[in-house]
Amino acid sequence: MPEMDIITSLKQMQEYVLKRRGAGRTIALVPTMGFLHEGHAALLREGRKRADILILTIFINPTQFGIGEDLGKYPRNMERDKVIALDAGVDIIFAPTASEMYPEGYQTYVNLDELSHPLCGTGRPGHFRGVATVVSKLFNILQPNVAFFGEKDYQQLAIIRRLTADLNIPVEIVGMPTVRESDGLAMSSRNSYLSAEERTAALCLSRALSLAADCYRSGELSVQVLRDKVMKLLDNEAYAAVEYVELCDRETLESVEQASDETLMALAVRIGKTRLIDNMILGKGFPCKERC
Ligand code: PAF
Repeated sequence: MPEMDIITSLKQMQEYVLKRRGAGRTIALVPTMGFLHEGHAALLREGRKRADILILTIFINPTQFGIGEDLGKYPRNMERDKVIALDAGVDIIFAPTASEMYPEGYQTYVNLDELSHPLCGTGRPGHFRGVATVVSKLFNILQPNVAFFGEKDYQQLAIIRRLTADLNIPVEIVGMPTVRESDGLAMSSRNSYLSAEERTAALCLSRALSLAADCYRSGELSVQVLRDKVMKLLDNEAYAAVEYVELCDRETLESVEQASDETLMALAVRIGKTRLIDNMILGKGFPCKERC
């Protein structure tokens, strides 16, 4: 039976890492908030290939949740997470408590000037400050050589790449493609909030992206037209309330007027009470089909 430890103490975790790094061993990190799904498992499997030691973190980070968001009810299942982790070859799960990560008197945060404002930053002020802070802390504690994040959280990935470069943190950031259910829904721990009817309605996100991809492939370059088509599709879904549909530059996340292969299309849509996001790079196309 392979070994896998769960460490909750920050001090113990740092000692573990210092010893291994001192002995020349490499570390791969997959930071998560738990309730793992196949998207996380794909990150873990890639991490397993890329370093001597694979660390999974499970920490529901309070600083990235706004008032009235789902911090209190974020799904958890440590027993299932352990099985997935073991299967993917994880060596250590680091699961600190909130009071260890943010002890009394805590007052240091990481802010990005530009990348954290558009898209999800507009509807979730302070969210990326919390993400950037916790990820920086995890990088300091765990000193990974390489860290893995999903492209579903595209803006998060862009922010983590930027902060790593700006703060000269010696870690390679690897973005991994969004993993989808067979009907196109992007995997997310929050999909567990959806009722059966909402689960069906949630397909409007991937259908919207697929429609835009098809229109772009057919030669439509006007952002206005692409956006209108997507809005019309989403407006037809009774359970859906659109937070944003944006087309922007994949690097800077600044809005564009003309679509190109380098354009990111990003969506945030509420299905009932559940906020879902999805995205695609137009030039890469979309795995599911919808007719323009
Ligand atoms: O994507 C997530 O699960 C979280 O935002 C992260 C990167 C683990 C930070 O809490």
